[in-house]
Amino acid sequence: MTLANRSLVTIDDLSNGEIESVFSLADKMAGALDRQTDVCQGKIMVSLFFEPSTRTRLSFEAAMHRLGGSVISAVDIGATSLAKGESLADMAKIVGSYADIIVIRHPWEGSAKVVADYAGVPVINAGDGGHQHPTQTLCDLYTIQKERQTIRGLKIALLGDLKYGRTIHSLIFALAKFGANILFCPTPGLEVPQNIIKKLVTEYGGEVEIQPAVEGKKRAGVLPMDAVYITPSSPHQLALMPGINFDLELKTGVDALYVTRPQKERFTYDEGQGINSSLVVNKEFLKGKEFKKTLVMHPLPRVDELAYEVDADPRSMYFKQAARGIPIRMALLALLLGSREVAVREEPDFFRSKVNYPIYKGGYEVTCPNPVCVSVQGTETKYLKPEFKIVSLEPLTLRCVYCEHGFEPKYIASADWHEGRLDTKKYHRADSHWARTIKPENLIVFNSKSEAEAQGFKPSRYAGAGHPGGD
Ligand code: CP
Repeated sequence: MTLANRSLVTIDDLSNGEIESVFSLADKMAGALDRQTDVCQGKIMVSLFFEPSTRTRLSFEAAMHRLGGSVISAVDIGATSLAKGESLADMAKIVGSYADIIVIRHPWEGSAKVVADYAGVPVINAGDGGHQHPTQTLCDLYTIQKERQTIRGLKIALLGDLKYGRTIHSLIFALAKFGANILFCPTPGLEVPQNIIKKLVTEYGGEVEIQPAVEGKKRAGVLPMDAVYITPSSPHQLALMPGINFDLELKTGVDALYVTRPQKERFTYDEGQGINSSLVVNKEFLKGKEFKKTLVMHPLPRVDELAYEVDADPRSMYFKQAARGIPIRMALLALLLGSREVAVREEPDFFRSKVNYPIYKGGYEVTCPNPVCVSVQGTETKYLKPEFKIVSLEPLTLRCVYCEHGFEPKYIASADWHEGRLDTKKYHRADSHWARTIKPENLIVFNSKSEAEAQGFKPSRYAGAGHPGGD
């Protein structure tokens, strides 16, 4: 099977079988890194890194060199014509005509999707703001698979910045795809965004059990666990749901502890003032029985959350994770460039990771409320139309197709109620029964009464004057 001409924007772009095929080609290449120079001869990779990087950029560039291809690069937005107001779409079209594959890191969430939509060549997301970092996840999964021979049924604790950590977001979905259980251990104030929890439960199955914060600290010992995801393939699910025994979850041991640094560059001003992430994973921390056989992982770079004294501990995996970036990225480049083909396991994924939700394209100006979404940035708004998946009717929830940020609009109307009849041009509260009756193709949403009224809609008796969801 060929993966030629495919892009990797989110981890959902690869099936489990395809990920396993990347791993098996990486295994082959790892054994002969210096004997692959015929694989991508004549191909050019463009490396666009508009945020700092050591591992991802240099391992992609090293991987392309080892495959015999060439690399062109830009590492500073200020040195490209984006600084003169060029759009991502125009840049993508141009760069796509110069190179065979694009690797991009950019601070805007959804930026890699825009580049993939316009480039005409495969695009690899090397990190789009706090959204996703799928190739780091391939390195993480590959490491777990190599060290434990399986991912299914394992218990993986995620510690630190679960709100802005893009490696965390990709890894959560990947672990769910492969049937692992997840312990969420956030720095207070940096919990996993609700839209990620919702997607995890609705699209990958399983259950998320939330633990009350105070009790959690008492019962969970050193790990500040606030929630657990139990995979549908786990016998735990039957035995312990509802009401997971958090103590038991820890006593039976943690297979991997995935530590992340606080992503301070993405903090709001208040978060910068208020968030205190004093927990340090060190020898003392790892003395607990639950960590006896734990793989200590980190996407790196580290700051203060992981002590250097752990480096000599055989449980430390982070330098192996980074080193495995070379064969993983070599395999990925060779496959997406069509220079290698691999057998892909035919059976369907164990978990459903794609749902065909109806799309809301608007018609009235509802924009993504995420201020770092690519779709709301000045130049990009000239050609990108806001587009959302309707992921739930109760409550009505839209998910931006670019950054995957979810939100619940406050007011709704239907396009077919007012056609030609101004007296029926009414808007309603989104939590009224009307939300369930409107056909997706007729749905109109508003974030405020004033937005609805500016478009000529009048409040119905279901608009709930004085409702807390009002302006
Ligand atoms: N893990 C990772 O993305 O590292 P860099 O930021 O150094 O690329």
